[in-house]
Amino acid sequence: MVTPFPSVELLVFPDDCDSFGHVNQATFLRLFERARWNAVAAGPGIDIFDREDAWPAVRKTTIEYLASAFPGDVLRFDTVVEQLGRTSFTMQQTAIRDADDTVVAEAHFVFVCVTRKGEPTPVPGEISRFLDAANSSRPSGIHNLRVRGIATGLDVIGDGDTVLFVHGFPLDRTMWSEIAGPLTGWRRIAPDLRGLGMSGAPADGYSMAEYADDLAGLLDALDIQEVVLSGLSMGGYVAFEFLRRHRSRVRALMLLNTRADGDGVVARANRNETIAAVRRNGVGVLEDLLIHRLLAPDSIETMPHVVQRLQAMLQRHSPEGVIGALEAMRDRSDSTSLLPSIDVPTLVVAGKEDRIVPIESVQEMAAAIPEAQFTAIADAGHLTPMEQPISTGRVIREFLDSITT
Ligand code: MLT
Repeated sequence: MVTPFPSVELLVFPDDCDSFGHVNQATFLRLFERARWNAVAAGPGIDIFDREDAWPAVRKTTIEYLASAFPGDVLRFDTVVEQLGRTSFTMQQTAIRDADDTVVAEAHFVFVCVTRKGEPTPVPGEISRFLDAANSSRPSGIHNLRVRGIATGLDVIGDGDTVLFVHGFPLDRTMWSEIAGPLTGWRRIAPDLRGLGMSGAPADGYSMAEYADDLAGLLDALDIQEVVLSGLSMGGYVAFEFLRRHRSRVRALMLLNTRADGDGVVARANRNETIAAVRRNGVGVLEDLLIHRLLAPDSIETMPHVVQRLQAMLQRHSPEGVIGALEAMRDRSDSTSLLPSIDVPTLVVAGKEDRIVPIESVQEMAAAIPEAQFTAIADAGHLTPMEQPISTGRVIREFLDSITT
């Protein structure tokens, strides 16, 4: 089943027409294109392709011309995404004369996503989410749900078995965009933890247990029993707590750039200093204290857009939520003893240049989980999904494929 984009109405002008006085066949290509841009403008914005550094190139077009249209006619363009693949997608567009509902032309377009150099690239997160929202048969684009009394910001994309993505600190659900978008065939759910991103920030009630119970409450609200649970860094700490409290709901596990041990004396003291700094000067202090440590040195140089996205995430957080997360991390349990009992398929991912959770400790954690699969991502620091979305996405896709075959 497909759900159309919003319809777009365009007026036919004399200069759209040829010597027969009707819309020239070549003009239809332009009108179809104009209608698509209108839909993009009304949705994610016409700079989406620049933002995502990927452009859909038309690979194939077929058009059937079924009736004439004349100056002054209003044509309604209906667009549906027929198929959304990893690097390509197909759209059907229909031009209908508004006055009498006559179908004037119908077209099918096959697009391939390419880089500036013209190389095929996976349909990036935001684009894929936009398209997926249009072709998903399930309710999509759910952006807010009340869970355990808290307004919870989230993205729900696509259809299929569920992958639940839990973000790290000081991040929000949008850190998963490039990974979640292309994972067609799965329902991808990425919530903002309480106090962070778009979620409400209670004055207190921050702990790994509360976060884990919030996730369980979210799954209850969406009527989902079982998930592949994916957590990055603090998201991994939440995943361990979720395993302790809601084991039967975890079908498989993906642990990225995270660690099982708790905070030691020095780490606890650092958390307290950061909490004091946020109390004194607000959430913005995290930019100097943290953001640059999150990325590999090369990423900082070559990926200013990632730095900008991190800065934007910081602006969405409230001080209560940030302080709550720092306290929750400071006080979390040591999960090392849990590792040997993990009996679900598990993927463990490290960034080769992670300065927060070094690759050696991630590898050690993986070795303690029976049958865990370990992968290190090159040219990435702590934020593998944002710094290397293609290679990280590929590893995740392969893992998910392996648990379904
Ligand atoms: C995160 O990315 O979630 C944090 O770096 C984790 C931490 O500070 O322990």
